[in-house]
Amino acid sequence: PLVGELFGLTDLAEKMQSLLGIPEVIVVQGNADQSPWVKEELGRVAARVLKQTVQEGDIVAVTGGTSVASLAHHLSASSVFRSVKFVPARGGLSEQAELQANTLASEMAAKTGASYRLLHVPDRLQPEALQTLRKEPQVQEVLELLRETRIVLHGIGDAISMAKRRNHSEAELASLQEAGAVSEAFGYYFNEAGETVYHMPTIGLQLDEVKKAQKVLSIAGGESKAKAILSFAKQSCQNVLVTDEGAARSLLSTR
Ligand code: G3H
Repeated sequence: PLVGELFGLTDLAEKMQSLLGIPEVIVVQGNADQSPWVKEELGRVAARVLKQTVQEGDIVAVTGGTSVASLAHHLSASSVFRSVKFVPARGGLSEQAELQANTLASEMAAKTGASYRLLHVPDRLQPEALQTLRKEPQVQEVLELLRETRIVLHGIGDAISMAKRRNHSEAELASLQEAGAVSEAFGYYFNEAGETVYHMPTIGLQLDEVKKAQKVLSIAGGESKAKAILSFAKQSCQNVLVTDEGAARSLLSTR
């Protein structure tokens, strides 16, 4: 709230809280679509929220993406993190290495003095390969840790932009569009009503596990993500959303 007050953004934040039904929304100044420093600011604020929330022994599940990456930039060491584990929420999601959940989990651990695990599972596997990998002891260990997740750090993507970034085929893009996909998080694609229209075949944190976590911290800004933010909020699982003026003004002006 302090950051919001500094920039006179508390009013926007309160309106977002009631529109989205999220207990705490923090709105930073600017529009992440237009300026890279806004995404850094989202990360800085989200890192502060994490530091205030984290407890000894926590399992923190993290997704990939540029927003969670900017959170990682702003973390620093403190004693509470020594007993914390950062665990990737997904395997690879056809992203650049710097943006993958595995990379971000290890980066967060390096910055804070926590430990981490890796999930060596590519995405979009054939069902048989998925079954086999699920039985691997290394993978099982990570999946068991994920079931104990207390804090989830994640980004929310605009569905079609995410599908393009992950090199989905034209046919897949068309079918996502036809299904009305609006948002993406954790490898799930959701429509405007918040229904899952597609789930990427990969291994990791399941949506019901996200819902069971005590603290779900979402980081998503930019006008282009307004509809995606509204769509994902239908999951009713978020405790804190760190967003920006671009997304907030766009959402609130259409109401
Ligand atoms: O799943 C959603 C994406 O990870 C969001 O990625 O933060 O780079 O927009 P982004």
